[in-house]
Amino acid sequence: MSHYSESLNQHYAPTNIAARILERLQQACKDLDALSRDDLAAFDEFHGGGRESTRALARLAGLTPGARVLDIGSGVGGPARTLAAEFGCNVTGIDITAEYCRAAQMLTDRTGLNAQVAFQCGNALDMPFEDAMFDVVWSQNTMMNMEDKVSLFKQVRRVLRPGGVFAFEVVLAGQAAGPHYPTFWANSSSLSFLIAAEEMRAMLASAGLRERIWEDTTQRTLANQKKRKQALAKEAMPVLGLGVIVAADLEAKMENGMLNNEQGRICTVEAVYTN
Ligand SMILES: C[S@@+](CC[C@H](N)C(=O)[O-])C[C@H]1O[C@@H](n2cnc3c(N)ncnc32)[C@H](O)[C@@H]1O
Repeated sequence: MSHYSESLNQHYAPTNIAARILERLQQACKDLDALSRDDLAAFDEFHGGGRESTRALARLAGLTPGARVLDIGSGVGGPARTLAAEFGCNVTGIDITAEYCRAAQMLTDRTGLNAQVAFQCGNALDMPFEDAMFDVVWSQNTMMNMEDKVSLFKQVRRVLRPGGVFAFEVVLAGQAAGPHYPTFWANSSSLSFLIAAEEMRAMLASAGLRERIWEDTTQRTLANQKKRKQALAKEAMPVLGLGVIVAADLEAKMENGMLNNEQGRICTVEAVYTN
């Protein structure tokens, strides 16, 4: 395992996440032999807007039944299962964090979606997929961990069929100095590679990807973050929540996420490109 991969595995899942998920579901009195996607919704989509923002991006990207989707940085698989169950897509997820991949497969098996969804553990900067294999490349809150975005976008183009769609959500650098750490994606600048919106757009254009939609979603993300904070102030940390898959410093990461957006240190974007 490379140092990069080891550091990301250590950051995201230094512990047996699949076991931790099952333990928490049991504590919450869920039937482990009959799990539904709703039982997982409080923790299985690890990005600003949860399942609602996955649905919104899928509609913007025009996903249709039978579409072959590659989810880059698929986490514990919530977005992949949403695209399969609600939009009829066939999804392959790739993620560098081995414990997340194992948990993603386990939850997909238990929710009966394994005919449409599968996961591979690996680095998206070195994708093991054939040319033009996918109709859609999808990515939510993952590219912050990738320094070499030029090579990522080259690979995205390679695995996308001509006319295919690249849809993503990402955290970018804001106008103010760098983020307060820890954040959800990194504990320090050593795993955080934020670039400004204009730099990202220029890289995508020079890779040959054509912009269809580019939307700054910072205010929407901030509103969600504030809502979550208010909910937490009213009650104790819930048994089922992001804490199930975020092994350390959950409260500090939530607080910093909000501060970083408020202070213009980061911004969030959703976008749709065509190959
Ligand atoms: C914040 S999580 C988002 C997970 C998922 N996209 C979601 O929205 O639920 C970021 C994910 O990106 C993965 N990741 C980061 N760098 C990666 C890389 N170079 N290759 C593959 N996966 C990567 C991490 O392991 C982690 O699961």
